[in-house]
Amino acid sequence: MSDFYGELCTKMYEKEKSLADEKELEFYLSFVKNQEMKVLEPMCGNGRLLIPFLQKGINIEGFDISEEMLKVCKEKGETLKLNPNVYKKGIEEFETEKRYDLILIPFGSFSLLPDSIVNKSLQNLKNVLTTKGKLLLTIMEKGIEIEEVLDWKETNRITFTDETIVEYKKVTFNEHTDMVETELKYQSIQNNTVQRSEIMNFPIKLYNFKEFEKTLKANGFKDIHIHEVENGYGDGSSFQVFECS
Ligand SMILES: C[S@@+](CC[C@H](N)C(=O)[O-])C[C@H]1O[C@@H](n2cnc3c(N)ncnc32)[C@H](O)[C@@H]1O
Repeated sequence: MSDFYGELCTKMYEKEKSLADEKELEFYLSFVKNQEMKVLEPMCGNGRLLIPFLQKGINIEGFDISEEMLKVCKEKGETLKLNPNVYKKGIEEFETEKRYDLILIPFGSFSLLPDSIVNKSLQNLKNVLTTKGKLLLTIMEKGIEIEEVLDWKETNRITFTDETIVEYKKVTFNEHTDMVETELKYQSIQNNTVQRSEIMNFPIKLYNFKEFEKTLKANGFKDIHIHEVENGYGDGSSFQVFECS
């Protein structure tokens, strides 16, 4: 059984990536021109970006397929006296009468989508954008070095008051499909005993940017610019964002 962003994975994610850093936030906020703008964050997860947007009084809503991530997002909002409008939905089935001025998919999340739902997901987003609306989207780029890990290897360990969560990883790279096939295992340890485990398949698609631009165009996006956000994830860690309309 596969637990996609299950409880243990989410607890670890929230501990390390609770709120977006200033540089990354600043970049996305620069597209919010006034408080009337309607913003959507598909794949919003724990609200790493959505919560700081709400704190600034921005009209933002989000959705995700992970109940655990959504739960953490709502709880975090409540402790800050915010009421995040987030709900469970897959991007490939997202339809609404509402229209949005800005849609954000940060942190390379789009690369988690299998090829079979990429076109449908992009069309769904295009359909709900206002005429002048913009989509800001990040993907994982082909060319980064992939270290294959064939046997379970411990890759993270965090101790909380009630438990220690250990993360193990296996990684293979399929160069025909450009997929990094990652398997993650999370174990909750209490009193030196494994109390429960989660296994998560985590396939990541690596894209050629030029080819991805064609995919965007084929799905109705005409104006496409790529921004480089230098040190956006902290010193020495930059990322690129597709601005599409
Ligand atoms: C890396 S997390 C990013 C969360 C958040 N956007 C951030 O910037 O921290 C990716 C999120 O995408 C969600 N996700 C994956 N596939 C999805 C799909 N088909 N539809 C909606 N959400 C999805 C996962 O549940 C997870 O919460």
